[in-house]
Amino acid sequence: MHCIRKITEDLLWVGADDRRLAMFEGVYSVPRGVSYNSYLLLDEKTVLMDTVDRAVEKTFLENVAYGLGGRNLDYVIVHHMEPDHSATLIRLLEKYPEATVICNDKTKKMIEQFFGKTPNALIVKEGEKLSFGKHEFTFYMAPMVHWPEVMISFDSENGVLFSADAFGTFGALNGALFSDEVDFFGEHLAEARRYYTNIVGKYGPQVQAALKKLAPLPIKMIAPLHGFVFREADAISAFIAKYDAWSTYTPERTEVMIAYASIYGNTENAANILACRLRERGIAVDMFDVSVTPASEIVAAAFRASHLVFAAPTYNNGVFVTMEQLLHELAAHNLQKRTVALIENGSWAPSAAKWMREILASCKELNILENDLTVKSALGASDADAFDAFAEALVATVPEKA
Ligand SMILES: Cc1cc2nc3c(=O)[nH]c(=O)nc-3n(C[C@H](O)[C@H](O)[C@H](O)COP(=O)(O)O)c2cc1C
Ligand SMILES: [Fe+2]
Ligand SMILES: [Fe+2]
Repeated sequence: MHCIRKITEDLLWVGADDRRLAMFEGVYSVPRGVSYNSYLLLDEKTVLMDTVDRAVEKTFLENVAYGLGGRNLDYVIVHHMEPDHSATLIRLLEKYPEATVICNDKTKKMIEQFFGKTPNALIVKEGEKLSFGKHEFTFYMAPMVHWPEVMISFDSENGVLFSADAFGTFGALNGALFSDEVDFFGEHLAEARRYYTNIVGKYGPQVQAALKKLAPLPIKMIAPLHGFVFREADAISAFIAKYDAWSTYTPERTEVMIAYASIYGNTENAANILACRLRERGIAVDMFDVSVTPASEIVAAAFRASHLVFAAPTYNNGVFVTMEQLLHELAAHNLQKRTVALIENGSWAPSAAKWMREILASCKELNILENDLTVKSALGASDADAFDAFAEALVATVPEKA
């Protein structure tokens, strides 16, 4: 039986949840699942906004058929060609051969690349409008708000922004559809942050360009391809403000994120002592063992915090492997505008800080504090002064609470 939700009188959610996926896009764990959203507009013409991942094809096709209620499908808008939204496109077009694909030039090429078939396509360009009856859609290109072919569309009739991957959240919907049906900012923002920072985080300038295009639109609802639909003005502006911060690499809060690696526990001990010292000074701390917590969570936390401490043992005259990977991830995600402090450990020739500095050199506008803390195997009483100097130099960069 179908599993759909009504958004307005003539707009339906016909997507589906996947709770069996181990790794989204092959690297991001999704312990609470993920949703693939697809929307069906029933105007004088019938219009489907995107399809879904292969994993949920059966439910999706059943939903679409029920939603159409015996009508034919006139159009499919492809906002994004990534297979989590397009893997079922060809199957859908086989079922509704008269449907026309609305997409841009780049999308059409990708359909040919992925499926070896040329669709019956109506090509739209930046700012172009199409009317489906009561509803008129305007199309805006949003390149690299995840892929180069991404576009978003705005339905001026009911103020719905179909935002593609932008404003998406990891996690199955579990029967909810609207962000106001759950405690979005309390319980789901972390997964929205993890989604954004890992998937689109690298492309801040392109996200800024898209946000500028959206700014003049009278948006009443945001309908993304993953996660919740937003229909409350406060939630919409608060979420857009988050996107503004993330895409300009502006820290969300004054906080020290400590990410450490440790083989025998001595680097971990130094990190714990630092965390206590910072807390004693009233400074918020977030803390991770990089060998334990998935990188995607640490990347998200790094986008939130104003200050970052990386602590790692020296390893075969390099930096410990999991820390090396994390730092490459952060650099690859274009993280910038942070204050950074480094702790290195080594039993004979500590050099981890040098290697960490080298990886971070590609990040823009990092204030890497000059004095690294060097631990020789384990912190001892004779290290107290060096530790104090290191901790105080870091504390000095943290703004006092207002
Ligand atoms: C495989 C391996 C390679 C290492 N390579 C180096 C090295 O090149 N230089 C060095 O000074 N210490 C090296 N070490 C030693 C650790 O960096 C050192 O024991 C450190 O104190 C470990 O910190 P921990 O207690 O937080 O694990 C190596 C240790 C291991 C297990
Ligand atoms: Fe995507
Ligand atoms: Fe997606």
